[in-house]
Amino acid sequence: MEEKQILEGRQGEVLDSKRAEVSSTSKKLYIESYGCQMNFSDSEVVAAIMSKKGYNTTRNIDDADVVLINTCSIRDNAEKRVRNRLTEFKKKKSDNPDMVVGILGCMAERLKKSLLEQEKLVDLVAGPDAYRDLPNLIDEVGTGQRAVNVLLSRDETYADISPVRLDKGGVSAFVTIMRGCDNMCSFCVVPFTRGRERSRDPQTIVQECTELFNNGYREVTLLGQNVDSYRWNITNKGEIKDPNLPTVNFAQLMEMVAKVSPELRVRFSTSHPKDMTDDVLHAMAKYENLCNYIHLPVQSGNSDVLKRMNRGYSREWYLQRIEAIHKIIPDCAISTDVISGFCGETEAEHKDTLSLMDAVKYDFAYMFKYSERPKTLAERKFEDDIPDEVKSNRLSEIIDKQLKFSLASNQKRIGLVEKVLIEGESKRSNEHMCGRTSRNSMVVFPKGNGKKGQYVNVKITDCTSATLIGKEIN
Ligand code: SAH
Ligand code: SF4
Ligand code: F3S
Repeated sequence: MEEKQILEGRQGEVLDSKRAEVSSTSKKLYIESYGCQMNFSDSEVVAAIMSKKGYNTTRNIDDADVVLINTCSIRDNAEKRVRNRLTEFKKKKSDNPDMVVGILGCMAERLKKSLLEQEKLVDLVAGPDAYRDLPNLIDEVGTGQRAVNVLLSRDETYADISPVRLDKGGVSAFVTIMRGCDNMCSFCVVPFTRGRERSRDPQTIVQECTELFNNGYREVTLLGQNVDSYRWNITNKGEIKDPNLPTVNFAQLMEMVAKVSPELRVRFSTSHPKDMTDDVLHAMAKYENLCNYIHLPVQSGNSDVLKRMNRGYSREWYLQRIEAIHKIIPDCAISTDVISGFCGETEAEHKDTLSLMDAVKYDFAYMFKYSERPKTLAERKFEDDIPDEVKSNRLSEIIDKQLKFSLASNQKRIGLVEKVLIEGESKRSNEHMCGRTSRNSMVVFPKGNGKKGQYVNVKITDCTSATLIGKEIN
């Protein structure tokens, strides 16, 4: 149960589905998203592509002409959840045979036509780089065919598409800055489902952030699987592509976005320990609106395991990166991802993960049991030899430790005044508001003068391991 709570809202097969809403008399699209923030962001691109073809989104599946499910393959249970959902959709379709059911995202890319042909669960399959083709694919289904496009692209970034925000009246939005991943972490399916890494034109990113700001948004999260390797007009060998155009790296991009407005908070996800440069940290230190929060997935605290994971850094390197963060941005919150029970993990190697957590004292962590994924390097090279019970026990030890650090991290804020961006009413009580600090901590406080989308000062008076509790002050 605890794992669920902690995983909520992250690369999360757990509790992450979200339904779209915009209604109209025209054709209706229902879209449900699972997985990481990138998938939620992609669903907004899909809604934009479909709206050009006359589809408005609906929150009621029974009204829909087209039902799309944007899926995740990161762990086996992520796929199981989607399969259950598809079986439910199949029942709906038997009552309404004209309804088109399509699968998008990473599971579509991984399983390709088998979902159509062998399993007959859907009418349409579109991979992450094929969304511009959705209107054609839907037409094909209309002519009685089963439609598939799972081509991966080297240059598609949907840069020109202005996403339809599915979270209406929002304060915070995702902005995709790059797609795909060129790292080959041995446990990870993403390079197979998302293809090669490519960066989006920085001008279109700044433009999208400016539009969001003008529409009342006050926070953007720049998304990529490895944002530190963002590069524009530079090849992966470091050569300049067009000498007449400027080059842009991630630190420079962050500055460009920071300058949209000092009132616009900027976050990003995900940093990679092997690529995160001091430049990025210096940019964060320089601009108040570049939030003091870094998600730096460690995966394991043991250098041999990290080697088997093909992560490209050692325990020592990782700890040096943590030191650099503390030095350059003294009040920066740090979170991580940890995997328990990777192939061949000994008890001593697991203990190294625990001791690394003791050394870093993360403010927050997402913690997972290793789940073998087809075609990955680990599947081909190593045996998934840690018994499930051992994986679970190790995960519990990791979670127990993290809960203590999360609580301690929040307790340290008691007595401080935090600048909070109000996201809206608290989910648990309509007499309270909630919002986040620069360090990404959720704060709940009784309603005062502050409205959704405004910054207020909140004096922290109490906390749990997940939430700060306080009182608005002038
Ligand atoms: N590109 C990002 C996100 C990758 S997926 C990054 O590098 O951090 C998010 C997290 O899921 C990973 O950090 C990892 O902790 C976890 N994960 C990925 N594959 C997994 C697998 N096969 N089993 C268990 N956890 C996995
Ligand atoms: Fe997967 Fe590694 Fe790429 Fe992250 S950096 S998406 S873990 S291959
Ligand atoms: Fe899942 Fe694909 Fe994201 S596998 S975590 S939805 S990139």
